[in-house]
Amino acid sequence: MSIADTQENISSADYEYPHKTSVQLLNRFNFATLVDAGCGTDTRLAQYAKLRLAAYVGFDADAAKDQDGVFKPVAQILGRKLKELGITAQTLEADICSIEPEDFDRTDHPTVVHARFVLAQLNKPQRVEAIKRCAQLGQIVILMEYDWTAMLGRDDDFLFVESVKQAILDLMMQCRVDAFAGHTLFSVAGEAIKPPYTMQSEKLARPMGPWTGELLALVERMLAKAQQIKRFDLVAKFGPMIRKLRGSITLGEPICFRPAEIVIAIITR
Ligand SMILES: C[S@@+](CC[C@H](N)C(=O)[O-])C[C@H]1O[C@@H](n2cnc3c(N)ncnc32)[C@H](O)[C@@H]1O
Repeated sequence: MSIADTQENISSADYEYPHKTSVQLLNRFNFATLVDAGCGTDTRLAQYAKLRLAAYVGFDADAAKDQDGVFKPVAQILGRKLKELGITAQTLEADICSIEPEDFDRTDHPTVVHARFVLAQLNKPQRVEAIKRCAQLGQIVILMEYDWTAMLGRDDDFLFVESVKQAILDLMMQCRVDAFAGHTLFSVAGEAIKPPYTMQSEKLARPMGPWTGELLALVERMLAKAQQIKRFDLVAKFGPMIRKLRGSITLGEPICFRPAEIVIAIITR
């Protein structure tokens, strides 16, 4: 199971920045179909596609806990949520490493493929294959991955932020999620694509600042995951971290740090 398993149980506040980033990137392009690879259960990109008068296709290979507490295919959960919102979309169970263009109805061109924080869950050969597959699905491919090496606490917050980062990295490793996928994204994508494809790369680094609320939401999510997989050593670390983060917000003395970077590769043909 992936780190997305607990998504149903938590607020989506800490997904705000990645979502806004996706929207800013997608706003640069004209497209009639948005294919969301490894879509997860968040409905916002489908809502955005609707605003852009584009068709939305979301696919995912994993299962997650639904509102009734039962594990179901992620695509099925997203499909249910979109139906409840009155949004027409295709949601399918498919693996990014084996999906074919024929696996979904694609009447409207051009197509943009969006894969956010998915490659980090794959090993290197799978990533190369996944990128090749994405490039076959559409004319534009947007890949986004985190690089956690960039996270750094300011002055007095340095040690605390390092300890938070280390605990997060431990948990990600346990879940077989590569926290440094952003660090190697350009080289992996470069290996996957050949002309006529071209790649443009960007890094979104945010400045040192009081991103405490975002970190709190993330650590709360990590705590839930650590409890789920019974890593009680990490549970024992995340609990006090949450108290400290909450306290710093209450006292008006936010923890200041530079967040992990989002690395972006845009592939076009
Ligand atoms: C960290 S979540 C990100 C979800 C969504 N893209 C987002 O940014 O909110 C990673 C997603 O990738 C999915 N995933 C992992 N391996 C996959 C694969 N081989 N094929 C398709 N989806 C996969 C997981 O089920 C999970 O929903």
